[in-house]
Amino acid sequence: MAGTVILKGQVLSFSGTPFEGEPTDSARIDDALALSSGRISAVGPFDRLKADAPEATVIDHGEKVIMAGFVDAHVHFPQTAMIASWGKRLIDWLNTYTFPEEMRFADAAYAAEIAARYLDLTTAHGTTTMCSFATIHPESVEAFFAEAQRRNQRVVAGKTCMDRNAPEGLRDTPKSAYDQSKALLDRWHGVDRISYAITPRFSPTSTPEQLDAMGALWAEYPECLMQTHLSEQVDEIAWVRELFPDARDYLDTYEAHGLLGERGLYGHAIHLENRERARLRDVGAALVHCPTSNTFIGSGLFDMMGLMADGHRIGLATDTGGGSSFSMLRTMAAAYEIGQLRGVPLHAAQLLWLATVGSAQALHMSQQIGNAAVGHEADLIVLDLASTPAIAQRSACATDIWEALFATIMMGDDRAVHEVWIGGKQQ
Ligand code: GUN
Ligand code: ZN
Repeated sequence: MAGTVILKGQVLSFSGTPFEGEPTDSARIDDALALSSGRISAVGPFDRLKADAPEATVIDHGEKVIMAGFVDAHVHFPQTAMIASWGKRLIDWLNTYTFPEEMRFADAAYAAEIAARYLDLTTAHGTTTMCSFATIHPESVEAFFAEAQRRNQRVVAGKTCMDRNAPEGLRDTPKSAYDQSKALLDRWHGVDRISYAITPRFSPTSTPEQLDAMGALWAEYPECLMQTHLSEQVDEIAWVRELFPDARDYLDTYEAHGLLGERGLYGHAIHLENRERARLRDVGAALVHCPTSNTFIGSGLFDMMGLMADGHRIGLATDTGGGSSFSMLRTMAAAYEIGQLRGVPLHAAQLLWLATVGSAQALHMSQQIGNAAVGHEADLIVLDLASTPAIAQRSACATDIWEALFATIMMGDDRAVHEVWIGGKQQ
């Protein structure tokens, strides 16, 4: 077919979950992938793909790995410029570094500059889809969606709603949060590759009235995702208990206001009570593991294996800029390290699945993105498994592709991301 491109290399895809049985049984390696009209049109032996599309342009990537672009299930694009800010824990970190930076997004030109910078950085690191918090300013959502639309990128974002415990200039009201969120949702949700997520920041910065308004909006648009934070730090949980004396636990502050559901994304979810775990699993909500953030801000160790074994839906995320890296490779490495501290080493196949299929499932987008599968949108990366001298010498003595991939996961950065395709277009 005219316009077809065939990428030749080690094409990695998943046919199931690597968290059941042997981790590698769910993974496939093929030697070519064809893309046309923005989608993956074939995966399989190069000779067959070439015979089916003799006119196709062929790009031979040799031993490099061709796979789905990374999916980052929880980020704050407005925190790009203040990533890696020293020495504070969650609430002090928000007040000292985060809120002053987010204040700047009242300026639409600044919002546009950071949206473009953030998408440049994440593309360089191989992340093709992300689910982002914006700021309280509708301008910040407009800027992010406009930039993503220009790049034909599949993204999710929403206006971050807060009506208390935030400085003047970063507070809305229950009504303005509802009205502005609804207007942005009506304007953007489903346009090109853009989705809107209803976004109350977290219970400490919303009154019960605002949580009610967000819950009412979600009930009107149940097809939308809803994103927030849950049980990240012990001090935060104690504060929630003071602010919501009638709530059974932190999750109940969402549940009581219509903010618990299958399309809900709950960032961090580290210190969960048994009731919270059971409710989250029963409704099929997504928990988002943010490992570099959880160590950087000193939050705690997410129970990946316990929650997986209980059947939770789990995504992986950088949590830029509480997280200390834009790289999903570095994020997988941190997830591995936290697994080690909890006594369970995650396999490279499990880490790569979490950063692609797992996060896509958390976003309810696994039919479109997150896997090098026929029919999926052509958001792809080409990984160089010898991107630095240190990695090259390690992967040179690897006995299989998993050992080589693991070296790149642990030591790789944007230099490992050789090529990026978004919506069938090379970036
Ligand atoms: N909890 C509420 N807001 C935030 C945020 O911006 N980052 C993190 N890590 N946790 C939060
Ligand atoms: Zn966050």
